[in-house]
Amino acid sequence: MSYLLYVSASPQGERSISRKLAAEFLTHYMAKNPNARVVERDLIKNPVPHLDGETIGASYSPAENHTPTMVQKLKERMELIYEIKVADEILVSTPMGNWSVPSVFKA
Ligand SMILES: Cc1cc2nc3c(=O)[nH]c(=O)nc-3n(C[C@H](O)[C@H](O)[C@H](O)COP(=O)(O)O)c2cc1C
Repeated sequence: MSYLLYVSASPQGERSISRKLAAEFLTHYMAKNPNARVVERDLIKNPVPHLDGETIGASYSPAENHTPTMVQKLKERMELIYEIKVADEILVSTPMGNWSVPSVFKA
């Protein structure tokens, strides 16, 4: 069974064109892959935190020196990395705004 991670990033909800395109894609995708599992990571409803100094510090320091906050932030970061690593396929729908993708998508 194939696992598709769908990452969406438009703040425009129902009016979003990128979300409409992705929905259209998923309709065809599911018709061709009826057993596939699709999991959505909606970066507007569930934004991921931007990388901060504490999290970077936690990645480059021994575990025994980590504060409880560092442990939590590192755990959340590893969960996001895992979410991408286990996906067989990734679908991204994102607006372009001011010559780039939204900052939450970069995060
Ligand atoms: C403030 C703003 C900035 C934008 N900047 C760009 C841009 O730099 N490049 C581009 O191709 N489109 C740009 N657009 C157009 C959007 O990408 C377009 O409206 C798109 O449909 C937004 O995606 P969504 O409908 O899924 O939210 C911009 C739109 C807005 C409102």
